[in-house]
Amino acid sequence: MEREKLKNIYECLFKDEVRKDEMEPPAAVVTLTHFLSSDKNPIILEAGCGDGRNLYLLSRMGYENLFGVDIIDHTNMEGVSYQQCSIDNLPAEWTGKFDCILCAAVIYFLDDPKQGLKEFRRCLKENGILVLTAHTKYSVFSLIRKVKMWLGFQSMSHLKGCHWDRDVEEYISMAESLDMKILYRSGFRTSYIYHKFSTISDRILKRFGYRFPVIRFRVNLPEFWNNFKSKHAYYSILVCHKGQ
Ligand SMILES: C[S@@+](CC[C@H](N)C(=O)[O-])C[C@H]1O[C@@H](n2cnc3c(N)ncnc32)[C@H](O)[C@@H]1O
Repeated sequence: MEREKLKNIYECLFKDEVRKDEMEPPAAVVTLTHFLSSDKNPIILEAGCGDGRNLYLLSRMGYENLFGVDIIDHTNMEGVSYQQCSIDNLPAEWTGKFDCILCAAVIYFLDDPKQGLKEFRRCLKENGILVLTAHTKYSVFSLIRKVKMWLGFQSMSHLKGCHWDRDVEEYISMAESLDMKILYRSGFRTSYIYHKFSTISDRILKRFGYRFPVIRFRVNLPEFWNNFKSKHAYYSILVCHKGQ
């Protein structure tokens, strides 16, 4: 899909203010903070930050050096340096700038994801880390969304032109071919049925002032389970390390 069209769609989607204070930290943010050292000074870029909800949570946790880029216009992201640009063409002066780059649910919009990964590598400091999440090929969620798109569901319009036909192994080998080491792989929301059940019952319970118990994302799981999740969950998560 053309970038201008995608930009317009996302600007409309993000028009409704989410109650950021009520949000649980998503798995991408939990993973990122797990891999950062305990000081709150790392320079963090969110590549494709949308309405800035992840950056907002990070600033609430005390992180101070926050940058965001996206193709959409933003005017009110407090405490964040925002630039409007594409993740596969980051500002030239950002070479070696960041301790950490988070790219959550964006890389599959690129026709050439390797160009995006190259840009991340360029903009990371030595020993910097990249946290990447993506819908991938062997996920029930991807399949269901493909069927919905095929049936013409309006709610899927922003996803036309996404590349979900890439397996997580492709992202891994792209990152490795750029001399990045995979520190961690996993995924989140593994069961479509649980996910549907919890969102429906959550809506019902909320009316009565209750909330469905949230299953908190855990980073330290057995390796076989993380490998499985990285392939089949709603989103894959990879943590890549830029060596010296
Ligand atoms: C699913 S949202 C994810 C937003 C945010 N990362 C989050 O986790 O809440 C996808 C975002 O990617 C942005 N996007 C798509 N293609 C992009 C590109 N080439 N460069 C920068 N941002 C892009 C969209 O504008 C949208 O804000």
